[in-house]
Amino acid sequence: MPKKIVVIPGDGIGKEITDGAVAVLQAVDKKYKLNLDYDYYDAGGTAYDKFGVPLPEDTLKAAQQADAVLFGAVGGDKWDNVAPDLRPEKAILGLRKGLGLYANLRPVKTMDALIEYSPLKPDIVRGTDVMIVRELIGGVYFGDKCEEEDYNGTKRAWDLENYSIPEVERIVNLAMQTAQGRKGKVTSVDKANVLATSRLWRRTAAQVAAKYPDVKMDNMYVDNCAMQLAINPTRFDVIVTGNLFGDILSDEAAVLGGSIGLMPSASIGEQTSLYEPIHGSAPDIAGKGIANPLGTILSAAMLLRYSLQADEAADAIEKAVKDVLSQGYRTADLYSEGFKKVNTEQMTQAVIANL
Ligand code: NAD
Ligand code: IPM
Ligand code: MN
Repeated sequence: MPKKIVVIPGDGIGKEITDGAVAVLQAVDKKYKLNLDYDYYDAGGTAYDKFGVPLPEDTLKAAQQADAVLFGAVGGDKWDNVAPDLRPEKAILGLRKGLGLYANLRPVKTMDALIEYSPLKPDIVRGTDVMIVRELIGGVYFGDKCEEEDYNGTKRAWDLENYSIPEVERIVNLAMQTAQGRKGKVTSVDKANVLATSRLWRRTAAQVAAKYPDVKMDNMYVDNCAMQLAINPTRFDVIVTGNLFGDILSDEAAVLGGSIGLMPSASIGEQTSLYEPIHGSAPDIAGKGIANPLGTILSAAMLLRYSLQADEAADAIEKAVKDVLSQGYRTADLYSEGFKKVNTEQMTQAVIANL
């Protein structure tokens, strides 16, 4: 039986980068006989334009029934003024919720070939290897909200942050287990000096951590964590945090690896998992064919590893990505003089040639 991969390109650079990742998957499939089969579905602004909704039922249903989902990105200025519930971003939020994807794994590794690309000093970023474990279907993203209401003669809006003990337990358990396969260290990041949700998070994390004597856990406030990532990133192994803090810290951490265009992620839950780069639809470069496809290609490697247990094929992709960077291939986001400037398709072909 072929393995069904649902591909959702989305908006902006979404098609360019998922085309690259699928081409790489097809190439490893040939070599490792993975028997992969692809079905394409719409989501985001593209789906809104066609069907009037950002996440058509067909798309969610297909994703639920797939062996894995490969997602590009959604969003763009064009849809900035549509009703809040119809915004393109609702597509990815709806997929995460609809698939029960409570954990988003965002690895950030500084490759030696790219040390000079981080704006931070080489001695600071060298050896960075962090796994951010972000809670993905709770917190302020999914709490009650009010777009606008009357308030003391003016207007106000609000978003409610809430976390339940089971929600914290499952994500911290996953972070602990992730650390067991790494350096055995978890930093739980919160704002417990101010937020009630963070105090419940911290208490619950301590109780979960007690079940893992082989893992060392410490707590850090999110503001300090933002700074520590910039001044001492190698102190971290696994970072576990809530939805909003994880979103922000992962874009910051991406800088340690050289470019956000390189950063993959895996969103996992009880059933089908979804794989997507951490960046967005990059409207500023969309349609030019110059986007970095490596974050999506590395997401495809995570797909092979986590959803299809095809470790060898995943290793091959990761090694090929390292090789093309060592060979000096660079998309515009990472280009400087003396290197080989390539576009999205040429970068994809360079990866395939190295498999
Ligand atoms: P962005 O990540 O799209 O872009 C930020 C910057 O990084 C831009 O300068 C962009 O050109 C650059 N960049 C991003 N990916 C790149 C790549 N692969 N190669 C080269 N450069 C790359 O963030 P933004 O501009 O804040 O958001 C644009 C749109 O994307 C918004 O509508 C936002 O809501 C959406 N978004 C979607 C997702 C998602 O689908 N999961 C994630 C983040 C943002
Ligand atoms: C991400 C994005 C999304 C998020 C948006 C587009 C809803 O920024 O995947 O990091 O905030 O989770
Ligand atoms: Mn984000």
